[in-house]
Amino acid sequence: MKFTGFLFPAVVLGAACPYGTFKPEDPTDTRGVCPMLNALSNHGFLPRNGRNINENQTVNALNEALNLDHDFGRFLFTAGRLSNPKPNATTFDLDHLDRHNLFEHDGSLSRQDAHFGQWSRFNQTVWNWTMQYYTGDVLDVQMVANSRAQRHMRSNLTDPAYSLSEVGYQFSVAENAAILSILGDKVTQTCPKKFADFLFTREELPYSIGWKKPDVPISLTDLLRTYHDIEQATAFPPRPAHDNSTEIFN
Ligand code: HEM
Ligand SMILES: *[C@@H]1O[C@H](CO)[C@@H](O)[C@H](O)[C@H]1NC(C)=O
Ligand SMILES: *[C@@H]1O[C@H](CO)[C@@H](O)[C@H](O)[C@H]1NC(C)=O
Ligand SMILES: *[C@@H]1O[C@H](CO)[C@@H](O)[C@H](O)[C@H]1NC(C)=O
Ligand SMILES: *[C@@H]1O[C@H](CO)[C@@H](O)[C@H](O)[C@H]1NC(C)=O
Ligand SMILES: *[C@@H]1O[C@H](CO)[C@@H](O)[C@H](O)[C@H]1NC(C)=O
Ligand SMILES: *[C@@H]1O[C@H](CO)[C@@H](O)[C@H](O)[C@H]1NC(C)=O
Repeated sequence: MKFTGFLFPAVVLGAACPYGTFKPEDPTDTRGVCPMLNALSNHGFLPRNGRNINENQTVNALNEALNLDHDFGRFLFTAGRLSNPKPNATTFDLDHLDRHNLFEHDGSLSRQDAHFGQWSRFNQTVWNWTMQYYTGDVLDVQMVANSRAQRHMRSNLTDPAYSLSEVGYQFSVAENAAILSILGDKVTQTCPKKFADFLFTREELPYSIGWKKPDVPISLTDLLRTYHDIEQATAFPPRPAHDNSTEIFN
């Protein structure tokens, strides 16, 4: 259709573009463990150099790019600020988030455990392990719970330094919830798998494959609903009730 050809160059040039233009990081830029914050810097919603990010910049970026409400943005900024090694800092750099066992934890979806080496950037081998448990085109609570359990199980079995604090556990479940309730749809708690793969592998918002900023604002309460549902869906097969008629070992 005619208009497509006419409008396309405007989109490419970013004219009247409703979102920040994507540009991969320069070698002098800073990025870190969070695929979403990396993407927001790559689009210019956050400073492209990834440094000295203050509360307002964080709240505005999360609101403009993802429709997170301001309270949720301020809540998340706290984790950024506390990860700055400078006491009482009012800003953070993206690589401050890499501090192992502060918020960064073992059993990440797309990063190897710190024990094995570089732990803060995307690792295709690890992401492939995760993707194996994404057994449908649309991720749901159960698939996300399964792949999260798999990562922690694998780490516990293979990483002699594996550990998970209470805070690390909470971040792990919350990040998995974020895939469904922020990148996906907070109501249905689902997310097209291709959106997650695109975000993780390219650190780019998946506009070009049909993703749109959510219409309805997202709150911490929305994330917590998905958080609790993931917890509920995380269960290993329980030991069966005792049945004397099938006793093998006695
Ligand atoms: C100021 C805001 C944010 C902060 C301070 C933050 C911080 C972090 C940190 C410290 C990690 C590393 C955890 C680890 O895997 O060891 C992480 C990972 C992650 N973040 Fe963020 N994050 C923020 C916003 C977001 C948002 C809005 C999303 C929405 C989708 C998101 C999605 C994720 C996901 C999916 C991971 C898991 C990566 C993996 O397991 O490989 N984050 N974030
Ligand atoms: C954040 O924005 C508010 C209102 O726009 C302003 O009052 C405040 O000084 C700003 N804070 C910083 C740290 O920029
Ligand atoms: C940090 O803030 C706390 C309380 O707000 C204060 O007691 C402390 O002295 C501050 N530390 C530095 C290094 O500014
Ligand atoms: C990715 O993680 C795997 C598994 O821990 C590891 O063998 C590989 O060396 C890592 N790749 C990079 C580039 O760090
Ligand atoms: C990851 O999986 C893709 C698709 O199955 C495959 O082409 C690629 O070689 C895998 N990469 C690694 C590092 O395992
Ligand atoms: C690893 O698995 C063992 C055996 O199930 C368990 O006792 C331990 O608590 C696990 N480690 C962590 C950090 O969860
Ligand atoms: C089944 O086995 C348990 C423990 O071995 C025993 O306490 C129980 O009485 C048995 N039940 C029956 C119906 O035999």
